[in-house]
Amino acid sequence: MNEGMIPADLPLRNDLISEEPYGAPQIDVPVCLNVNENPYPPSHAVVRSIEKRIREIAPTLNRYPDREHMELRQAFVDYLAKESQASLTTDQVWGANGSNEIMLQIFQAFGGPGRAALGCDPTYSMYPEYARDTFTQWHTAPRNADFTLDVDRTIEAIRAIEPSIVMLTSPNNPTGTALPMTDLKRILDFCQNARVAGAADGVHPIVVVDEAYIEFRDPGTPSAATLVNTYANLAVSRTMSKAFAFAGARVGYVAASAGIINCLRIVRMPYHLSAVTQATALAGFDHTDDQLAQVGHLRELREQTAQWLREQTYKGEPLEVAPSQSNFLMFGGHFDDRGMIFDEMLRRGVLIRVVGPDGWLRVCMGTDDEMARFREALTASMRAVEEQTNQANQQ
Ligand SMILES: Cc1ncc(COP(=O)(O)O)c(C=O)c1O
Repeated sequence: MNEGMIPADLPLRNDLISEEPYGAPQIDVPVCLNVNENPYPPSHAVVRSIEKRIREIAPTLNRYPDREHMELRQAFVDYLAKESQASLTTDQVWGANGSNEIMLQIFQAFGGPGRAALGCDPTYSMYPEYARDTFTQWHTAPRNADFTLDVDRTIEAIRAIEPSIVMLTSPNNPTGTALPMTDLKRILDFCQNARVAGAADGVHPIVVVDEAYIEFRDPGTPSAATLVNTYANLAVSRTMSKAFAFAGARVGYVAASAGIINCLRIVRMPYHLSAVTQATALAGFDHTDDQLAQVGHLRELREQTAQWLREQTYKGEPLEVAPSQSNFLMFGGHFDDRGMIFDEMLRRGVLIRVVGPDGWLRVCMGTDDEMARFREALTASMRAVEEQTNQANQQ
């Protein structure tokens, strides 16, 4: 059977018929800059720690793992204290297989039939999927033209839609935009008294801040995790996949009030986090500085690349670049057929991403060599598409 083909006689849920599995293309090309990974592999010391920790737990694999993953939760607490100066306890953190699973658990616990969730477009394309999979209605409020959050419209949408979950993303994907604390606090304050459709009086929405890329923010910018002790309605989702350079380990976590964590514990699969995953994550936390060693460099590279992009032109107009606090840049703004630029790049061995509003493309920061290849390929691709357009216009 062809990959993706679903026999018509299978009782697939009606709302899933003709849906496609989500995911960026996994294509074997020399330069992969499409899924916002950290391009630097774990150090030898990290690899040795992983080997050691897995060797230690291997003889116990006949037993289920610690379902409450207490040692790992302590490591999340220590990391959040060090990285974000957030003072939390183990009952305020919770881990899962990637922050994707954290957010799915949030939708399973707080969404569901009769419930709604609100995000601010353009944003991460998985949110509507969590909503679909949990029968939660998905709504969006538009961002400002510069991709910052339109706080007034967002609050207006919360008032009108009465969601149980408000999804905010900082830095946002695909735009890279950070959410200022003053804006976040306005939304948190409003949600403390807002109504939730389909719930009893006195029930209020939770606000989820997806901080998958937070370690790439400008130094000195606070994380929403520092507000967890102040706002019982806040959940801050984090991941080891991006700055922490551990995408293959599949570890995400959330910082929130103990009440919110207890709700997630109701919907989690039994033993959702394998002993191997827990051991691998702990090995990563044994070497936090190694894992984060390239973050400063990637941040500098982002600024240099943004500057370079702004100096390039396409069809006579300079490229636009959305200001980013992340490890990727959304650029272009007027690629009238962005698919053609993407294809030309791919032909030259550089994979980027067609995502976000029309006219834009996204690239994540690779190694210095990869970024040199990106610059070469983009210049050549833009010239090639301009040429093709000129020829088509002359015919
Ligand atoms: C905004 C955002 N949140 C969450 C994730 C999921 O990350 P993971 O499941 O690897 O933790 C991604 C992945 O690209 C993302 O861009």
